[in-house]
Amino acid sequence: MDRKNGIARDGDMPWHLPGDLKFFAKLTSGSGDNVVIMGRKTWDTIPKRYRPLPRRRNIVISRQPGLMVEGAECATSLDLALEMASSSTGSVFVIGGAQIYALALEHPSCGSVYVTEINHDFGCQVFFPLLNGFSCTEILGEQEEKGLAYRFARWTPG
Ligand SMILES: NC(=O)c1ccc[n+]([C@@H]2O[C@H](COP(=O)([O-])OP(=O)(O)OC[C@H]3O[C@@H](n4cnc5c(N)ncnc54)[C@H](OP(=O)(O)O)[C@@H]3O)[C@@H](O)[C@H]2O)c1
Repeated sequence: MDRKNGIARDGDMPWHLPGDLKFFAKLTSGSGDNVVIMGRKTWDTIPKRYRPLPRRRNIVISRQPGLMVEGAECATSLDLALEMASSSTGSVFVIGGAQIYALALEHPSCGSVYVTEINHDFGCQVFFPLLNGFSCTEILGEQEEKGLAYRFARWTPG
């Protein structure tokens, strides 16, 4: 997210930071049995050639009953998605967007929030929810790319 908690502008992420994408891919892929859960709108923004996200089980949340998407499973609520994910042995990552982040942050099983904090204002229209009830407990790295300084932070409840 950017300096103002922005995560999207004009329907997409307004930055392209290969270092951040690498961090995201490594963290969420793990040893290959992890699950990524995302909102239907986020799924729609991923270019077809990149979805489903490889080496991860993809679950899409939508209110549309019977929705089918190629390469992913669908669930009509976060709880149902988590129930489906429980048959995998790996970690479960909720990867956006704003609506699904908001549901996840309120969920009792949310143990960590990994945030890439970019020190720039991109004039976004979609924002990450306020991290009330969480504190930044670890900085996993800092870097600069394309003139943008950013860091990887982990927030935990408390
Ligand atoms: N910067 C980042 O890290 C980041 C990460 C991810 C996404 N994004 C951006 O975020 C934007 C999308 O975010 P968004 O908040 O608009 O959409 P979203 O959270 O990706 O998806 C919203 C959709 O999820 C479904 N949904 C929401 N609440 C639900 C509930 N309680 N039960 C069942 N289904 C539910 C609905 O799908 P249906 O309409 O099908 O019912 C809804 O339209 C995109 O522009 C994307 O590029 C940024």
